[in-house]
Amino acid sequence: MTLERTFSIVKPDAVQRNLIGAIYQRIENAGFRIVAAKMLHLTREQAEGFYAEHQGKPFFEKLVNFMTSGPIMVQVLEGENTIAGYRELMGKTNPEEAARGTLRADYAVNHTFNSVHGSDSPESAQREISYFFAADELCDRED
Ligand code: TYD
Ligand code: MG
Repeated sequence: MTLERTFSIVKPDAVQRNLIGAIYQRIENAGFRIVAAKMLHLTREQAEGFYAEHQGKPFFEKLVNFMTSGPIMVQVLEGENTIAGYRELMGKTNPEEAARGTLRADYAVNHTFNSVHGSDSPESAQREISYFFAADELCDRED
């Protein structure tokens, strides 16, 4: 089995509504293992750097304001087909378009306050994991 890692965020709207545990439960139920996790309150610089690919888009300012509005949980997930699999568990960006039973369909407030983030490719996963975690912060959970 090939293990793949992805980067995930429980966004401020979900932390604020005490949904960390519910979302972690859904992640674990889906078969992904959390191999690193911490709580952070992003600075403006951190949020802008993390979402650099969206700089200049109409929603960028709103997104950065939201992502710095309160604490978040950041975590690294490991498992089989984790990048695509976790995107599927999250559902589409806009909760109105997210499939039933996905995290965003169940928890997101709207297109911006959409509760969770997940890397969209192996390249973003690598960049995003190292944006928040040093290599020695990832735990080996293979058994
Ligand atoms: P994007 O990378 O397109 O979505 P995803 O989180 O599913 O990878 O956009 C990043 C975030 O920007 C998204 O989670 C919420 C916000 N956003 C808006 O607020 N409005 C929009 O129209 C889009 C496309 C994104
Ligand atoms: Mg994205």
